[in-house]
Amino acid sequence: MCGIIGYTGYSEARGILLKGLKTLEYRGYDSAGISVYHPDFRECLTTKCKGRVEDLERKTSDIKGNTGIGHTRWATHGEVSDANSHPHKFGNVTVVHNGIIENYETIKNTLDVADKLKSETDSEVVAALIDRCFTGDPQQAIVDAVKKLSGTYALAVMFDSIADTIFAVRNVSPIVCCKNDDGAYLASDVVAIGGYSEDYFVLPEFSVAKITKDGFEISNFKGEPIEVEMLKLDWDISNSGKCGYPFYMEKEIMEQPRVIEKTVMSRIKSGLPDFSCDKVDDEIFKKCSAISVVACGTAMHAGLIGKHLIESVCSVPVSVHMASEFMYSNPIVTDDTLVICVSQSGETIDTLEALKYAKRHGADTLSIVNVRGSSIARESDNVIYTDAGPEIAVASTKAYTTQVAVFYLITAKIAYLKGKLNYEGVTRFISELQRIPEAVQSVLDRRSDIHHLSNSLLTAEHAFMIGRGLDYPALMEASLKLKEISYIHSEAFASGELKHGTIALITSGTPVIALVTQQYLFSKQMSNVREVQSRGAQVITFVRRSLKSDELKNCFELPEMEDEFMLIPAVVSLQLLAYYVASDKGLDVDKPRNLAKVVTVE
Ligand code: F6R
Repeated sequence: MCGIIGYTGYSEARGILLKGLKTLEYRGYDSAGISVYHPDFRECLTTKCKGRVEDLERKTSDIKGNTGIGHTRWATHGEVSDANSHPHKFGNVTVVHNGIIENYETIKNTLDVADKLKSETDSEVVAALIDRCFTGDPQQAIVDAVKKLSGTYALAVMFDSIADTIFAVRNVSPIVCCKNDDGAYLASDVVAIGGYSEDYFVLPEFSVAKITKDGFEISNFKGEPIEVEMLKLDWDISNSGKCGYPFYMEKEIMEQPRVIEKTVMSRIKSGLPDFSCDKVDDEIFKKCSAISVVACGTAMHAGLIGKHLIESVCSVPVSVHMASEFMYSNPIVTDDTLVICVSQSGETIDTLEALKYAKRHGADTLSIVNVRGSSIARESDNVIYTDAGPEIAVASTKAYTTQVAVFYLITAKIAYLKGKLNYEGVTRFISELQRIPEAVQSVLDRRSDIHHLSNSLLTAEHAFMIGRGLDYPALMEASLKLKEISYIHSEAFASGELKHGTIALITSGTPVIALVTQQYLFSKQMSNVREVQSRGAQVITFVRRSLKSDELKNCFELPEMEDEFMLIPAVVSLQLLAYYVASDKGLDVDKPRNLAKVVTVE
């Protein structure tokens, strides 16, 4: 969703702002803009437009100045238009804003500025409010203004009357900052500034940063200086381009053996799972009598795998909740409940709000997060970071498989601590987990076979995916991938459920993708495959090598693993299927329509 970048220093701001906005494009946006402080005119000059950052680049070629702020907008209040794009200026004040101000209509009426506003946005109202609060002290004006706001915000603010200075403040929506010899930088996302320094900090909520080329002054709302915690970026930003692949999604799919291995290997000691590098105490696992997993979309699908593993291996009941529904569904949360939040970005607002709810109700909380220092990571009592590195494609791939890898480790840990697996049992489980990177690599090495199979889906409008046991939640993820990037309507079904309604939709030529990996369910799954075949479905099968039979046509063979571990190579092969369909249809695989990478509105 929206992205923020800011720079003040010794170089021309325009190039740095545009570069930052290009890095933020992956979050999803519909318009972009920058404001740069012009030293001669002593004011912030703004250029903004709907469309791509390249459009903005063409319109700003003559902009000069060393201090500026920029924004990519994903429309929430008001249509996609030049006027609604950020930055917004009111009087002395120019702002860019991420988040949603819920009481902006009230503020607009109280300030009596409706006839002076140029846009329909909540953000322009914030500029007006700060302008009205300003009596000479910029930090005080910002504090007085944001105290009147309800909702979420990350704001970067410039004043015409204060040269070469940016102010920032936040509630929920993130702002990260860093500095080098050339100046100081801020952004909504560490990916946008990671190339300038590996040391950065997350601006604490309810504090104001004054940013000049010499660095940062951070104060709380009482005006007292506060210290910030410096973090180290351990992502290789130099590796963050497409590295020769046409799309980030393909690059990220191909990275999976390495990032799964990285996530797993640092958490195994003497053959046992070990979370000491995450400082996660065994006590939370020993103590819990129930687990609730809370997440959205793909991350929730990883949670469904976690449920299956933990319940079957550890006999601990696990419920999985869509984060957006969690607190409205009267969830049973006690002090024996461990609430596990799963999030790639660590910023998904629904997951963050669910986490806060769980904490208010006394649960222990653990988050599985990819982005260090993100809001969910900071709010959670315990964090296990996936080592997926930056995930740029909107469709999540390597984040999912590393989240699932963490669920295997958690399963082994709980099983050992609760005596459900002895030392031998756990080490056997862990050695199978360590085979996953090699199994995934064998799928990737044969990706041209999947590309070939994908051709039959190019003209499809609908597709069905069928599987049993763990294959079913794996297909829920595969189906989401196909839907979101290829725009083919796809549904995953537990195969046994088909004849209770859905089989009515199967007619001659209907594409059906069958996943056949679970040994103990093989004969039942084969009966269901025959049921759709006999109604004319065009079946593509992803089948474990040892289960392949002549009866199955259009097959991709999956490498052999224990039942519980088959799903990762299976999902990777289905990620590739979705990818090839979308790219061969000529679609913008990395930026599917209407979607944003980081979902910061409810
Ligand atoms: C789909 C996808 C989304 C995210 C969801 C949660 O490919 O990426 O469904 O999984 O928006 O995002 P995070 O994991 O950042 O909380």
